[in-house]
Amino acid sequence: MPGVLLGEEFPNFEADTTSGRIKFHDFLGESWGILFSHPKDFTPVCTTELARAAKLSDEFKKRGVKMIALSIDSVEDHNSWSKDVMAYANEADSPLPYPIIADDKRELSVLLGMLDPDERNKDGLPLTARCVFVIGPDKKLKLSILYPATTGRNFDEILRVIDSLQLTAQKKVATPVDWKPGEKVMVIPSLPDSEATTLFPNGVTTKEMPSGKKYLRYTKI
Ligand code: BEZ
Repeated sequence: MPGVLLGEEFPNFEADTTSGRIKFHDFLGESWGILFSHPKDFTPVCTTELARAAKLSDEFKKRGVKMIALSIDSVEDHNSWSKDVMAYANEADSPLPYPIIADDKRELSVLLGMLDPDERNKDGLPLTARCVFVIGPDKKLKLSILYPATTGRNFDEILRVIDSLQLTAQKKVATPVDWKPGEKVMVIPSLPDSEATTLFPNGVTTKEMPSGKKYLRYTKI
């Protein structure tokens, strides 16, 4: 089955983009990366998503994340549609702040398992789903999210997830439900109490549970 699993190296594909031909690992360099696909250029939900991503490009930059989009249209279409996207973002005079991959032969979409058999163009060919891949500086896949064409993504959530991924890559913690940066985090279950107290100078608090098991350990980073 095509696609990339969490922890696997992301393919070092070559592709034409609105910024010229790229080799993906060279494009990423030492940075984190986000590759997000959309079904088709000149479609309404996609336009709102790419405009929101453009508005948030400084937030991605602040986190050291290189952005790249993808759909199964040509570079020419991407360039023309990008002007609509930036007009929708109320920044008509600025270029789209990230490239878009032109996967008009669908090779990459097949390789990465991004085609949605339920969404087809007028010729009956499948369109790309709304995939999000976050790739770490080690080029391994850290997160993948898959939405159907009819549901636009929440880019605030994507930034929140990146904050969690970057924090948990550095510290032996996990982030609980609805966590936001600055809030308490949880000590990972594999870390013994003795090490936790040394690793977390702000202290570790444990919530009492009916089972008597002391697995809900919180700390502040
Ligand atoms: C959209 O971007 O609006 C869209 C694209 C394909 C199917 C449904 C919606």
